[in-house]
Amino acid sequence: MVKYIYKLNFPDIKEMLLPHKYEEIFEAITENSKFLYYNPNSYLKKEYLTFKHYQWNSSFLFYKSKGATGDLHSDLPKAAWAINYINLGHGVVKYYDTNVIGPGSMIPDKLGNYRLAWPTPTAAPMEIYTMTSGMHLMRVDVPHIVTGYDSRYALSIRSLDHQQESWDTVVSNFREYFI
Ligand SMILES: [Fe+2]
Repeated sequence: MVKYIYKLNFPDIKEMLLPHKYEEIFEAITENSKFLYYNPNSYLKKEYLTFKHYQWNSSFLFYKSKGATGDLHSDLPKAAWAINYINLGHGVVKYYDTNVIGPGSMIPDKLGNYRLAWPTPTAAPMEIYTMTSGMHLMRVDVPHIVTGYDSRYALSIRSLDHQQESWDTVVSNFREYFI
């Protein structure tokens, strides 16, 4: 069965970042839950900006700790998948079936970008994943809710021109890196 999250065998993040960027990105924020935008141009080494022939030209940093939980959402209509680097803590991702939770409604996130969201579910999730430190390929079009533990950072790196590619396509593109 095709999974919704795959851990990837990627170089250590410190290998991929420009000098001093690790400290800037991962030691910059400490509050309970935060959301920042970064252009990968500003922190990724040049050879990684076109990794796997994608243009990596957008990214978000999410910080969640102490069991902080986000809302139930899909990243549609913008994005169907992302590469997420998890660091310093871990996260739990629960996926829900739209046949159970309904179609959702368009609600802005903290940066004002509209995406599909739902009220906190009472139904059981259809899939649950634990994301530990490291790089992951993650499906984000299926409704999901994320909880962070310890001091979990998620650096979500995206390719704006390709972020609506089908999950089957992306899974086959990255399969060689699956652990
Ligand atoms: Fe998401």
